[in-house]
Amino acid sequence: MSSSLWRNTHESNRYTKYGSPDVLELKEVEKPTLKDNEVLIKIHAASVNAYDWHFLTADIFLIRLMGGGLLKPKYTRLGADVAGRVEAVGRNVKQFQPDDEVFGDISHGGFAEYGYAPDNRLALKPANLSFEEAAAVPMAALTALQGLRDEGQIHPGQKVLINGASGGVGTFAVQIAKSFGAEVTAVCSPRNLDQVRSIGADHVIDYTKENFTKNGQQYDLILAANGYHPLSAYKRALTPKGIYVMAGGSMAQIFQAMLMSSWMSETGGKKMGGVSAKIDQKDLGLIKELIEASKVKPVIDKRYSLNEVPEALRYLGAGHARGKVIITVV
Ligand SMILES: NC(=O)c1ccc[n+]([C@@H]2O[C@H](COP(=O)([O-])OP(=O)(O)OC[C@H]3O[C@@H](n4cnc5c(N)ncnc54)[C@H](OP(=O)(O)O)[C@@H]3O)[C@@H](O)[C@H]2O)c1
Repeated sequence: MSSSLWRNTHESNRYTKYGSPDVLELKEVEKPTLKDNEVLIKIHAASVNAYDWHFLTADIFLIRLMGGGLLKPKYTRLGADVAGRVEAVGRNVKQFQPDDEVFGDISHGGFAEYGYAPDNRLALKPANLSFEEAAAVPMAALTALQGLRDEGQIHPGQKVLINGASGGVGTFAVQIAKSFGAEVTAVCSPRNLDQVRSIGADHVIDYTKENFTKNGQQYDLILAANGYHPLSAYKRALTPKGIYVMAGGSMAQIFQAMLMSSWMSETGGKKMGGVSAKIDQKDLGLIKELIEASKVKPVIDKRYSLNEVPEALRYLGAGHARGKVIITVV
């Protein structure tokens, strides 16, 4: 590749129709021109989220109705979570400068050598993390933080249960709930029991052996990151003023929370609801502080290269990732 070509183009995973990971193509494309409030990032690492899977496959029909593109994808780039080095900044960007190490959620376009986003979607990378570790953080940790703190109103000493504790959101949720001083029960399969204990879970439940909604225990807060239980079962497992927060899981779990949770909340003091994570620079900063204070550490499962993004998506899409799946770019 000639040096002028290198300066003006970069490799990026693109797709033009919804489908399996096979529809993705690694293409040589022009480097973007920045708007005044945007930052160009030389991406060192990205991480894969269910969000990317949904935008790739449109398996949730709402993706098409809510801005993803009705018949074909509106966004042709994938990859939300990134970490890298600032290459250039738009003229109104004051908080970052070239060479700064940053991480954040750019929404689309992270599975590439370069990505860009408004500056308020980024924060300085935690000093004690590698780029790969930092790329694991944004979406999953924000979901866990906002689910526990904003929707779940978590307090020290509360009994908190995380269902789906071994995945991307769950591994952050266990650690963030502990950092709030909660007593945490993690629900996962037997192969992940040691992992969730090692990140601080006080109690573990193997979902293949025990149904936590039927064992008589009750929790002040339940974060449902994965799996499925009927809302009525979750409600039974809550203390009288307990709160249920749905972050994700099976389609049935997601639809029930969307359609029935407010109705369920009206019957008694228990609250049933969901979290929809928002990119928030202040929250990214808070998570950076938790990481730098060694209260939270990303759990990384597998690493793939830029031309293995389809494989990485297939692995995540199978639903059994243990922590985060990383795309190593540099
Ligand atoms: N609301 C939001 O804003 C938001 C943001 C991000 C993600 N999400 C959603 O949150 C969900 C979780 O995301 P994620 O990144 O954590 O996914 P993930 O990393 O793909 O989750 C995989 C993990 O889930 C566990 N799991 C699978 N079936 C389970 C079951 N029946 N019970 C308990 N654990 C089970 C798997 O462990 P085993 O293989 O051992 O079972 C695996 O460790 C997804 O549905 C995603 O769409 C929502």
